[in-house]
Formats: sequence, C-alpha cells, structure tokens
Amino acid sequence: MEPHNVEDHLTEYLIRLAGVAECRDPDVPVHLRRISLCSRIIARHIGWMEHQVTMIGYAGLAHDIGKIAVPEAVLLKPGPLTPEEYEISKRHTTVGAEILGDSDVPLVRMAARIALSHHERWDGAGYPSGLQGEKIPLEARIISVIDVFDALVGSRCYKEPIRIDRSIQILRENSGTHFDPAIVGFFVECLDEILHVYRTG
Ligand SMILES: [Fe+2]
Ligand SMILES: [Fe+2]
Repeated sequence: MEPHNVEDHLTEYLIRLAGVAECRDPDVPVHLRRISLCSRIIARHIGWMEHQVTMIGYAGLAHDIGKIAVPEAVLLKPGPLTPEEYEISKRHTTVGAEILGDSDVPLVRMAARIALSHHERWDGAGYPSGLQGEKIPLEARIISVIDVFDALVGSRCYKEPIRIDRSIQILRENSGTHFDPAIVGFFVECLDEILHVYRTG
C-alpha cells in the first residue's frame, strides 16, 4: 500500500468500522476488501464514471452493517438456520438501511440501497421486499453477485470453501433466477481482473 494514498487508507479505515458489525467473524476484512475491489472492476467495466466507481467501492463495504443487530448464536451458527433464526438474520437488510438512514450524501444513499437490497433476487424471490428484475437497484445487483461469489469461494462458519471454477459455474446456473444475467455476464467478462484480486488480496 502506498504510504500517502489516502483513498487506500480510507478504505482500510472503513473496512475496520464496517467490520464492527461482524467483528465476531475473522474473515470479514478480507471479504470486504474483495467486495470493494471487485465492485469497482465491474462498475468500471460497465462504463460508470470514475467518481461512481469510487462510490460503489466504498458503499459496498457497509452491505452487512445491519448484522450488528443479529445475535452471535445466529450469526456464527455452524449449520443451517431454523426458520425463526433465518427471519432474524434477514433483518440485517432493513436494519442496515436504517443505520445508513436517508442521508443527502449520494455515497451514503447508495450504501443504504445496497444494505437494503443485496439479498433481493432477480426472480423476485429474495428479501426483504421481493423486488424483481430492474426494480432492484443496479448497485445492489452488482454487490449481490460479488458477495455470493466471495461467500462460495471462502470458508464460512457453516461451509467449506468451494473451488473457483465450480463457484463460477454456480453463478452461471443461477443467472436469471437469483442473479441479474447481465451482471453475471459482466462478471465473467472481468474474470481475469477479478481472479487477480483473489490471487493478490
Ligand atoms: Fe447480507
Ligand atoms: Fe457479504
């Protein structure tokens, strides 16, 4: 990391702050760093302006900030959740949006949209609102693909890591149902750059 690159330092600082919500999980800083880098890659690839690319890189860091309200017994449960526990876990979306609030700052507004909608599904079967297709904010559709990919390839308290090629196949299999097919397509087009993040970060 460059000694005077304030943007890198700010990312690191925000990762630590956002990670408070999930500080009971030691893999979170790596997860957030990858989310930030990979979301920038996709945003740049689809032609967003550089300030918007920077915005999603920061805004995505708070996608799970609402987990601060999820009890440890649910957050770190090493196995499938009961229906009641799943309902509790799902609340991290609405709690996250409440924490980020209705700010006038575009970056914070984007972060709130991501926190609220990153578990919506393209087919409308997601939560918390069951939004469908392009009704789901674009930045949330981008973070959704990257977030699930990173969860697949990483180890979690409830699962072993899945190989990268199999994880990409899972994204493809769920394209058009769970994920926006266009975003899965962009993800695959950017695969070299994304895998570079995984090799170096
Ligand atoms: Fe989440
Ligand atoms: Fe995540």
